[in-house]
Amino acid sequence: MTKIGEKSKAMYNEIDLDRIDLNVEPPTEEPARQYYFMAKCREWVRAFEQKNGRRPTASIQTFGCQMNARDSEKLAGILARIGFISQDHEEADLVLYNTCTVRDNANQRVYGRLGYVHSLKKKNPSMLIGLCGCMMQEETVIRKLKESYRFVDLVFGTHNIYKLAELLYARLSGGAPVFDIEKESTRIVETLPVTRQYPYKSGVNIMYGCNNFCSYCIVPYVRGRERSRRPEEILDEIRRLTDDGVVEVMLLGQNVNSYGKTLTEPISFAALLQQVEQIEAVKRIRFMTSHPKDLSDELIETMACSQKICRHLHLPLQSGSSRILTCMNRCYDKEQYLALAEKIRRRIPDISLTTDIIVGFPGETEEDFQETLDVVRRVRYESAFTFLYSKRTGTPAAAMDRQVPKEVAQDRFDRLLSLVQQISRESCCRDTGRVMEALVEGTDSQQEGFVTGRLGNNIMVHFPGPADLVGRIVPVRLLESRGFYYIGRMEEQ
Ligand code: SAH
Ligand code: SF4
Ligand code: F3S
Repeated sequence: MTKIGEKSKAMYNEIDLDRIDLNVEPPTEEPARQYYFMAKCREWVRAFEQKNGRRPTASIQTFGCQMNARDSEKLAGILARIGFISQDHEEADLVLYNTCTVRDNANQRVYGRLGYVHSLKKKNPSMLIGLCGCMMQEETVIRKLKESYRFVDLVFGTHNIYKLAELLYARLSGGAPVFDIEKESTRIVETLPVTRQYPYKSGVNIMYGCNNFCSYCIVPYVRGRERSRRPEEILDEIRRLTDDGVVEVMLLGQNVNSYGKTLTEPISFAALLQQVEQIEAVKRIRFMTSHPKDLSDELIETMACSQKICRHLHLPLQSGSSRILTCMNRCYDKEQYLALAEKIRRRIPDISLTTDIIVGFPGETEEDFQETLDVVRRVRYESAFTFLYSKRTGTPAAAMDRQVPKEVAQDRFDRLLSLVQQISRESCCRDTGRVMEALVEGTDSQQEGFVTGRLGNNIMVHFPGPADLVGRIVPVRLLESRGFYYIGRMEEQ
């Protein structure tokens, strides 16, 4: 659930909705056009309020990765400006699903939710149901929605989320369901409202899309070609975020290591990191995701010398077999990956390495799988996300023969998971006894009087402390490892 946030702050030089003349034609330029439609929708909200004696509620349900989470914050910002009140469950006047389609189960979950929300709409026919995000970029999905899910009011894709107010207004004023999908986008609309989920940390998009076309992956088809934001826009956004209380930023992109290469004034990702580091109020920097093929020595050096970049690197492996890696179009082999991991560990000994692994890619044999286990044993990941290969229509891998039988893939998956977990447990106790800095992210729901903090290496620590520590970075002695997290004690500052 993404909070819509009643107190969304006007932090993006936003346009004052009261000063927009609604008697003229909508502006053609962005973002002015969207502010015009926000004001239009707000008139509808006011009429709703007069009629019902309350403001309308909206619920955003987010699936998928950090990019989608960040997009949802933008959607929430727009809805808050319009006047919707945030609702954490789906019994709302407007329910918006921000979807993911990276694996079929993400896709199926959305259809499941649609079944549920349809039953709610039968009880409350004026309810509005919207769908957006990656799944909507697939033609088969759109066809299915038009044929079998006619109760859906609003559908848009990944390239036009900035248009939410305009599309919502079209539905509110026109009656017919709105479908608005753009196949490709080169534009990046800046300075729209955003409601952040956490006051103290935020994702920041540095680029959109992906050009890598790993053979199993649907992301390049649904997110479009790679586009980098200009460094000034990124740094400005980060400065505004810190003015608003943010101490930790996570720079987001499908492959941050290729950031900036296509800008008119090219800049490397490492150089961008160095500039972010200069912003005094930024205390911690993270980024996601790094493709091994583009990880530069300059980046390793920048991380090693940095006071602020967290000692955590997510370095997706996908497979340990060089043969499978070629079929996956990953552009590195087992030896190159191992050499890279070793180089990083040597230069930054306290780094935490995490990864993504797919099992059951078409043609994967037991020998290939053993190569994957071998890499896991040698790199000793602090943690790993493991996925069963999921066939995505339209990707080259979907047409490959020798798809691995489900039971075989599941058996490999179970063996991989148990190895990953065993190593994870062993490596988590590595820092027991040390004092490390933790960003306090919330009170501990399991233990009264405890708070939960995140260490730079992404591991959590629970320790006694008051709720007003939330959002602060404090030193914590790690007293005891509990497998995947620590129990600690705050040290004197
Ligand atoms: N851009 C990121 C990954 C985004 S998708 C990167 O390259 O690292 C997140 C993860 O989902 C991928 O790393 C991959 O492990 C997994 N994934 C992508 N497509 C998949 C598929 N068809 N089946 C199973 N897992 C998949
Ligand atoms: Fe998908 Fe590969 Fe792009 Fe990551 S780098 S989003 S796995 S195509
Ligand atoms: Fe899913 Fe789209 Fe992210 S497909 S993983 S939400 S980019």
